[in-house]
Amino acid sequence: MSVLDRRSTLGWDAFDLSGKRVVVTGAARGIGCAAATALGRHGAELLLADSQGDILADTVKELGRNGVAAAPVNMDVRSVEDVQRLTEITAGTGGLDILVNCAGVIGRARTSEATVKDLDTLWEVNMRGLYVVTQALLPQLVDGDGGKIINVGSLGSVLGLEQRAAYAATKGAVARYTQSLAVDLGRHGVCVNAIAPGYIQTTMSGDWLDGDGERRKRMLERILLGRFGSPADVEGTFVFLAAPASDYLTGQIIVVDGGWSSW
Ligand SMILES: NC(=O)c1ccc[n+]([C@@H]2O[C@H](COP(=O)([O-])OP(=O)(O)OC[C@H]3O[C@@H](n4cnc5c(N)ncnc54)[C@H](O)[C@@H]3O)[C@@H](O)[C@H]2O)c1
Repeated sequence: MSVLDRRSTLGWDAFDLSGKRVVVTGAARGIGCAAATALGRHGAELLLADSQGDILADTVKELGRNGVAAAPVNMDVRSVEDVQRLTEITAGTGGLDILVNCAGVIGRARTSEATVKDLDTLWEVNMRGLYVVTQALLPQLVDGDGGKIINVGSLGSVLGLEQRAAYAATKGAVARYTQSLAVDLGRHGVCVNAIAPGYIQTTMSGDWLDGDGERRKRMLERILLGRFGSPADVEGTFVFLAAPASDYLTGQIIVVDGGWSSW
């Protein structure tokens, strides 16, 4: 074999996503929107799914103004019919290379006050919805030329979380689902990984991060980089996990938290 194999040949772009067909769920705003933008800037063809159709339409327009083309799909990951429609759309455009499962909801409550309904609500979107979307699109990923699945977990995928036991349980399940899927899909050439973001300032987290001054101070003290993250801080990891640069990486939970979980 040549000293320079395919992976080290000069000119090979490890982060080029040209022609890669991508679905991002939860793409209307926040982390999903940032992920989609970054993937689009690296050449991916975007299909953006979200249950908030109005916000999604604005996002797609804004992306277009910034030179990133994307098609919107107004859908709810909890709806089997909606997921079926998404599958038909991707099949109609020739298949799928990369799936980013980012749609999610949060619930915070003292454990003594949390209800079973709270768990059901979180589970339905964060784990069941992710599972249903993945199952439906899997055949198209397996049929492709080395697909990638990127699931979005949270610190709850690797640690316990204060006043978010049910949420953390759903995200812990996302981590184990990710690794189990990686086991089953490795021989099909599909890489499956998860990103576990730390505290990222979005609509979902805003009130919690800004609300209680004492808690905010305590949280910032634990983050080695001394600040909460922005969606842009997570973008690079999405690109890496979607791109050829990570072709030998699967079954991993990549924590992007400014150092919160390192001590
Ligand atoms: N913000 C954080 O600090 C943080 C930390 C760790 C993990 N996460 C995870 O990152 C993901 C994105 O969170 P975010 O902070 O950007 O939140 P966000 O609320 O800004 O965005 C979530 C998006 O998901 C969509 N969505 C929710 N339920 C849906 C459903 N049933 N079907 C389709 N779309 C649905 C929403 O409409 C919204 O556009 C979530 O999975 C969340 O759990 C966020």
